[in-house]
Amino acid sequence: MIRIKLFISLTLIILTCFVKVQAHDYADSSIISTASPLGWIIKTKSSVYQLTVSKEGRVQQVYYGPADQLSFKQKNALWINSADEIPVRGAFPVKTPLLEVVFADHVRDAELKFLDANIMNVEGRPTLKITQRDTYYPLEITSYIRVLPEYDILEKWVEVKNSGKKEAIKIENLQSSSINLPADVYDLTHMAGDWGHEFQLRDTRLTEGIKTLQARDFKSFVNPNWYMVRPADEKEDTSGSAWFGTLQYSGNWRIDFDKAFNGRLQIVGGINFWDTDWTLKPGQTLQSPKFVTGFTQSGSEGASRALRTYVRKTILPEKWRNKPRPVLYNSWYATAFKVNEEQQLALAKIAKEIGVELFVIDDGWFKGRNDDHAALGDWTVDQKKFPNGLGNLIKQINAMGMDFGIWIEPEMVNPNSDLYRAHPDWVFNFPHRTRHEGRNQLMLNLAREDVYQYLLKSFSTLLNENNIKFIKWDQNRTLSEPGWPAAPADEQREVRIRYINNLYRLIDTLRSRFPDVLFEDCSSGGGRVDLGMLSRMDQAWASDDTDPVNRLLIQYGYLNAFPANTMVSWITHEDWYKIKPTLGYRFDVAMSGVLGVGFDITKWTMEEKNTAKEKIALYKKIRPLVQQGTLYRLIAPYDNDKCALTYVSDDRSSAVVFCYNMAVILPGSTDVSQKPNLLKLQGLDPSASYQITALGNTVYKGSFLMNIGLSWPVNGAYQSKILEVQKVTE
Ligand code: GLA
Repeated sequence: MIRIKLFISLTLIILTCFVKVQAHDYADSSIISTASPLGWIIKTKSSVYQLTVSKEGRVQQVYYGPADQLSFKQKNALWINSADEIPVRGAFPVKTPLLEVVFADHVRDAELKFLDANIMNVEGRPTLKITQRDTYYPLEITSYIRVLPEYDILEKWVEVKNSGKKEAIKIENLQSSSINLPADVYDLTHMAGDWGHEFQLRDTRLTEGIKTLQARDFKSFVNPNWYMVRPADEKEDTSGSAWFGTLQYSGNWRIDFDKAFNGRLQIVGGINFWDTDWTLKPGQTLQSPKFVTGFTQSGSEGASRALRTYVRKTILPEKWRNKPRPVLYNSWYATAFKVNEEQQLALAKIAKEIGVELFVIDDGWFKGRNDDHAALGDWTVDQKKFPNGLGNLIKQINAMGMDFGIWIEPEMVNPNSDLYRAHPDWVFNFPHRTRHEGRNQLMLNLAREDVYQYLLKSFSTLLNENNIKFIKWDQNRTLSEPGWPAAPADEQREVRIRYINNLYRLIDTLRSRFPDVLFEDCSSGGGRVDLGMLSRMDQAWASDDTDPVNRLLIQYGYLNAFPANTMVSWITHEDWYKIKPTLGYRFDVAMSGVLGVGFDITKWTMEEKNTAKEKIALYKKIRPLVQQGTLYRLIAPYDNDKCALTYVSDDRSSAVVFCYNMAVILPGSTDVSQKPNLLKLQGLDPSASYQITALGNTVYKGSFLMNIGLSWPVNGAYQSKILEVQKVTE
């Protein structure tokens, strides 16, 4: 016994030295190795994440919360006991497992022990890499924690390896990350929705048991992939603790919130292994997608701001990351499937007149596509609608000074198509089961190499033959019958993961072949917006619902997690509540994101065209602030019937404020509740002076604008105002 103890102590001393040497090699203080207890402290601006290795060699997460812990590295009131960094199915089933495996001899328990650790650089960021090994079987799991201190964010992912030579290991579940929060009462904020009602906010108390957010079918309408957890007694928008997270994945995902009676909360997230497994052959490795976890003490708004900035500055494809998104015109709401050259050119002419920079034809341009019953899959230009091909149209649009873009829906096929007639086995299917259609479509099984190659060739040809500078990539149905009869028996349930791998590969390959093309993510509106997509698509269509009042709610929700330079918003004729919003109001709502126009503008009066011209010119002026500034959400549209947002430049010298009235008087409101009509700004320099042109050029101190505030500047229902705020030297 004494010998074993001595051996463990020696090993720990050696390991400590090893880790320290490595830490010294990469000079960054975000990850500190500790000797007593043996472990690591990972720091961001406001948070500390602490790991220790127990005497038995178990890697455990002991702390995740306020950075104040740094002054007290040992156990304290918030310290968590016995929370494995990689909880496995094995021993007592008290935790939600990150890893569940079955070995060749049918043993279903895993038992992990610390092997080694390394502090390394992954894509320019300090990263802690820890490897653990099963005590008997050839199973290794390496976990990574990549630190982005200025955003208060950690990226966590794992790799599991079969280091054996003979037998496979069945992975029945592999999540990306498990984190543990100290004992407390917690409220969960998440999003929910449906087609036309995306990104609606929900709040719920986390009581004992498990709350799961998930997608099983490649759509995230019901639960977009984002959450925030706060102690129940910390409700402030701008201060207090908030843990937040999301997953860089677009397929079947899940996040579990496992609340124990002792008050602790475990959050586990990754690929949803419902009806999924993976056979890890000898020598093979399986990597999870990245889980993003953040902690801030700047409240719910601070949490969203950190996440949006992280996405904008580190996740979006580099090519367009800092470039302005063009004002686009999309003809879908004007002409639907009935497109032709002459009519599109007529629209383009007016689009140019009002200041549009990119002209986009949506659905309907390809062979036989007269409605949504046919042609998906046959990606050649419809010669009846475009006898000259697209070439002449694009040439003329380019001659007007606009770029040209087009809609595609690569992952789907209509049964009424040449592609399906030739390859009925290319869709997801099970023998003897109905092939259910959604919007008259079946889903191609993109896990198949032949499907991948067909799509790559089709869209490479389209982009090679035409001067297309923009792709709107749509996906209009959910997954059903996820069968792949031709696949080997042990790969049948890998199909969802293989599909997403190939989807990412397809987008990545097209992007590398056509680096100048801007990509827009769409899925029946905002049905697939996540960091997996936003790391390869420059912007996203937030909803098919373009009614400006609904949009205020949808956009406010979208901005919980995703930055404004990805939030595509068009003005169209839609008016769900028959309130006849003005054109100006529609523009003001759309201008807080990436502006687009979708009206039938050939029918516009001169006055309407002039309004559009003015608004688009103003948008171009404030675009750097909206698309690259820092967003502060000032008034939420949920309980005030008004809404306000401000975007502030990095140097705090200018800002733009969007103010919207939805209704003037809330149902059931009293005189008193109508009174406090204040607009307090945020993000300005308190000691600087600012001029607000729309308010008679009055000059205010930053501290006044933020602490005392302005009278609410909008009068009347469904009215709006945009305020430009500019620093002045007195
Ligand atoms: C989906 C998209 C729309 C439009 C249509 C075309 O519904 O969300 O914006 O592109 O498909 O069929």
